[in-house]
Amino acid sequence: MGTKMLVPAVFCVLLGFAAALLPEDMRSNLEFFDYSSNVHTSAYRLRDNVYPTDMKIDLDNIDLEGATFTGSVEMIVLVRENDLEQISMHQKNLFVTRINVVNNTNGENVQLRSPNPFSYDDKFELLHLHFHLPLVTGSYTITIDYRGRINENPVDRGFYRGYYYYENTRRYYATTQFQPYHARKAFPCFDEPQFKSRYTLSITRPYNLGPSYSNMGISSTQLVGSSIRETFYPTPIISAYLVAFHVSDFVPTNATSTDPRPFNIISRPGVTDQHAYAAEIGVEITNQLDDYFGIEYHNMGQGSVMKNDHIALPDFPSGAMENWGMVNYREAYLLYDPANTNLPNKITIATIMAHELGHKWFGNLVTCFWWSNLWLNESFASFFEYFAAHWADPKLELADQFVVDYVHSALNADASPSATPMNWEEVENNPSITSHFSTTSYAKGASVLRTLEHFVGPRTFRNALRHYLRDNAYGIGTPQLMYRAFEKAINEDHTFLNDFPDVNFEAVFDSWIQNRGSPVVSVDRNVNTGGIVVKQERYQLSGVRPTQTWQIPLSWTEQKHLDFSSTKPKFLLNTSEAALASEEGDNFVIFNIQQSGLYRVKYDDNNWRALSSYLNSNNREQIHKLNRAQIVNDVLYFIRSNDINLELGFHVIDFLRSETDYYVWNGALTQLDWIRRRMEHMPRAHEAFTSYMRGLMNNVINHLGYNEGPNDSTATILNRIQILNYACNIGHSGCISDSLQKWKDFKENNEPVPVNLRRHVYCVGVREGDRSDYDFLFNAYNTSENTADMVIMLRTLPCTKDEDALKHYLQESMYNDRIRIHDRTNAFNFALQGNLENVKIVTQFLRNNYQEIRITYGGEARLILCINALAGFLNTYPEITEFQQWAYMVQVGLGEAFSTSQGVINSAMANLDWGSNNVLEVFKFVSVRSGSPAIFASSFLIIAAMLIQLFR
Ligand SMILES: *[C@@H]1O[C@H](CO)[C@@H](O)[C@H](O)[C@H]1NC(C)=O
Ligand SMILES: *[C@@H]1O[C@H](CO)[C@@H](O)[C@H](O)[C@H]1NC(C)=O
Ligand SMILES: *[C@@H]1O[C@H](CO)[C@@H](O)[C@H](O)[C@H]1NC(C)=O
Ligand SMILES: *[C@@H]1O[C@H](CO)[C@@H](O)[C@H](O)[C@H]1NC(C)=O
Ligand SMILES: *[C@@H]1O[C@H](CO)[C@@H](O)[C@H](O)[C@H]1NC(C)=O
Ligand SMILES: [Zn+2]
Repeated sequence: MGTKMLVPAVFCVLLGFAAALLPEDMRSNLEFFDYSSNVHTSAYRLRDNVYPTDMKIDLDNIDLEGATFTGSVEMIVLVRENDLEQISMHQKNLFVTRINVVNNTNGENVQLRSPNPFSYDDKFELLHLHFHLPLVTGSYTITIDYRGRINENPVDRGFYRGYYYYENTRRYYATTQFQPYHARKAFPCFDEPQFKSRYTLSITRPYNLGPSYSNMGISSTQLVGSSIRETFYPTPIISAYLVAFHVSDFVPTNATSTDPRPFNIISRPGVTDQHAYAAEIGVEITNQLDDYFGIEYHNMGQGSVMKNDHIALPDFPSGAMENWGMVNYREAYLLYDPANTNLPNKITIATIMAHELGHKWFGNLVTCFWWSNLWLNESFASFFEYFAAHWADPKLELADQFVVDYVHSALNADASPSATPMNWEEVENNPSITSHFSTTSYAKGASVLRTLEHFVGPRTFRNALRHYLRDNAYGIGTPQLMYRAFEKAINEDHTFLNDFPDVNFEAVFDSWIQNRGSPVVSVDRNVNTGGIVVKQERYQLSGVRPTQTWQIPLSWTEQKHLDFSSTKPKFLLNTSEAALASEEGDNFVIFNIQQSGLYRVKYDDNNWRALSSYLNSNNREQIHKLNRAQIVNDVLYFIRSNDINLELGFHVIDFLRSETDYYVWNGALTQLDWIRRRMEHMPRAHEAFTSYMRGLMNNVINHLGYNEGPNDSTATILNRIQILNYACNIGHSGCISDSLQKWKDFKENNEPVPVNLRRHVYCVGVREGDRSDYDFLFNAYNTSENTADMVIMLRTLPCTKDEDALKHYLQESMYNDRIRIHDRTNAFNFALQGNLENVKIVTQFLRNNYQEIRITYGGEARLILCINALAGFLNTYPEITEFQQWAYMVQVGLGEAFSTSQGVINSAMANLDWGSNNVLEVFKFVSVRSGSPAIFASSFLIIAAMLIQLFR
């Protein structure tokens, strides 16, 4: 399923703030994977004594207005056990009208029990067929006729309905979202990934709609009364969650009309002029993956051509879904309008498409046995999300962005003491864990794969994947099968065997899959001998660090021979401690070249000091940008976790003053902002830190300028977006006055703001303006035809400082039907982020409306996300206390969300304490650096006096 999601409860509680972040979240929040742990309990699971091999599904009487349909399923099953008295399969909310069973060995009907030939188990979502006499092994055909509902709320998934407006009339369409266990809402089936079979669908739809879509192309069309029946070619062998269909009047654009390799972008009419980019990049990504895997996409159909459709949906509960032959997307992640879609969104279109196409091999062709192994297909899809998109369009710099997007966010999530391992087997015993389809499955899995790719080398890595896919095509994958594939590839690679003769690859891989969290390697170097002692431990922001060992491939370079070109590891650290050698002398070493491994690096003070003076000299750029990004990110975390002396830490990152690189700033901004927010309850310290940050940013702002150049690189454009957005938010006067000018031109002269500058310009315009500015933008939102642009407006509207306008916005977030249900939780988050002052109004809104929010935002899980978001924003004692009192008062009404609120309080308190405990040190440093009166520098007395004021 589509990428990056809101970080789920487990992480939010401890790292609430990290999830709600400023510069970086422009590409996050794509997916909320609603995954109830319930389905893990064995009562929901099917036994494998009956296995479906062939499914024919006929859907009829589709009524989009009335939201109903009828269906008939004819399934061939293999009974693999004698004396079987009942067959169980999944169903949910289906009403069965007839069941018939035929014995395929003799062609005779099999008698069902009478009375009560079948029964429902609504709790466990099952349908039981009861037989008059026990079955024996063999093949049977089961036919089930039933009536079903089309869900009217997209977040209910299954077969659901959405709407759009065309020439001012409201129109419906209906489509599916079955992953992970919603196929049972559309037809009775064996709804677990390990049951793979062939599906043949027919759909009868009203004649006034367009042709329907499903996984495969249409094989025949029939007129049935005033309806049209379309039958599709049989699918390859697939799991139920990958079946998909779509009924509407949507229209396709064929990018390549060449028959053997069809490729289509499909959307509602009226926006077909936004298809071109997705078509262009999608064809190229398909070609690249074909070559890389050595298995061609279009040949995967097992008898029919595998088509390659991509459908843009106004309402979609996830980011995108990899249904074979028919991928579903939220509109904003597929449609590109050069005048209105900004670069980050364009990049998202490329990466989501690469992610979903990556699933065709990892997930569809070879499927995980059970959800605990989800990482097997999710990690690979996320890995190819960046690298396949990179191959298709290197200008997007996605191979480098992978590091700051995925490696950094994986390390961030893993810094929590409650981080879960990738192979999460304990779900059944852990009903409180509502989701493990988290950052762990996506960002971490992909980062582990990158670590391994750099360890074995790109060629051997690719060969291992080819072995795995070829050996397990149309079947089930397991971690063990993956290990065997790697061993096979390694045994064909003599260079690697030479370097690491007795490596146990399974143990290496397993250490990354089974361990919770990620490691920090500490490097202690003796300047006299050059001897280095490396040690590993699990990195945590707080709490006792448990003893754990990873097998960490180490790469490094020494100051005297700096070389960042080869990421090939020189040593495999598979014990808690080891000794290495370097040239003696007062020089530094840098470990983890280009941050190719998923680990942080902590040095001894000497090394930090040498590194610091080098970084703060003109030689800075001799150190690879990804390592500079790593260093600032690590150091800022170490400052939080007390792994580095605070003053030394700030000295290291002081080179940001001259730094202009996107990646480095990306590694720094979020964490600097974290520290800044920890000062919010101490206004003087907060202002001092803010002014320190403005000082750090002056140079990069001058370097970037306020306008886009014709030849700007991707990194430059992204940097301008992140820097100006942040600078304007912290009151940088140049940024604000430039933005106001652009806003004026827009509002008064109808001159559009350049698309990549809209986020900060709109925000400043609305923030510095009055109600009329808010209304102006709100009106633009209501008339826009580009969803990506609408999200920018949704994000910037709550920059308003007009209380009534903000209240209007929050009210609209519940009831405006142009704010799609999947954007409502985002709207709540945006409201929190808009201004410091907003927090009060937003929490008040939550208090007054939490029941309505639960309903209008799409359920309990969404309410929980909203409450979780508060963790980073309740930054004063009164705010926290007030929230706590309210939570206790309405404990019953909050239900599940109550425990979330307790986590929020703990997290907010811990944040507050961090600020109070460190403010003095931070303040001491930043006062010196920002040239405030020098008296602060050393006099203990003055500092002590300050302390009293600070805490007001
Ligand atoms: C493969 O990936 C998807 C996520 O996109 C997951 O939902 C699906 O269930 C996975 N396959 C299995 C069987 O785990
Ligand atoms: C199905 O037919 C075979 C062959 O006649 C027979 O042996 C078997 O008992 C039948 N199964 C049932 C459940 O009637
Ligand atoms: C799609 O392909 C068909 C057949 O090659 C062609 O007739 C049609 O014009 C194409 N449509 C578009 C929108 O390119
Ligand atoms: C660590 O690696 C060495 C060399 O590859 C190997 O001999 C040793 O058995 C490994 N130790 C562990 C604990 O895996
Ligand atoms: C942009 O690149 C083009 C082609 O390389 C070049 O002719 C032009 O001068 C460049 N423009 C600027 C402003 O650098
Ligand atoms: Zn996915």
